[in-house]
Amino acid sequence: MAHEQTDELNTYLANLNVMSANVRNMHWNAVGPYFAALHCATEKVYKELQKQIDEVAELMKIHKMQPLTKMSDYLNATTLEELKDKEFNEHEIIDNIVADGSELMKQAREIRDNADDEDDFMIVNKFEEYLCCYAKMEWMVRAMHVDENPTDDDEDD
Ligand SMILES: [Fe+2]
Repeated sequence: MAHEQTDELNTYLANLNVMSANVRNMHWNAVGPYFAALHCATEKVYKELQKQIDEVAELMKIHKMQPLTKMSDYLNATTLEELKDKEFNEHEIIDNIVADGSELMKQAREIRDNADDEDDFMIVNKFEEYLCCYAKMEWMVRAMHVDENPTDDDEDD
């Protein structure tokens, strides 16, 4: 179990690093009429991910597991794709954050469930916090979606 737990936490740590780099890429390369809002929102997200990177690595040390530290190891261990350095509009930014966030949420749930089987309250507690955080992040990012062609569905007559 300990070995598998090290691997699943290191995959998660690698994914946090890749998602953080992806979000920072979009923070710098956001374009369009919503630039200011996107620039601000992406900064909030990558700062949260940076906080989680430190917490997960320290949680591993507390549990006598060795966290990965090298960028090259993160790229080997990640299950996410690195984004190219290009411009991103609001639709691409929302889609990319939701896609990476969903993958992390799926993994956080697995880590939480496995830790719960071992009655490891520290990991359960932390990962339940992350699950709440991703749910909130997804709501906020999706709420930024602007429908450029609103329909008149709401009108009865
Ligand atoms: Fe910045």
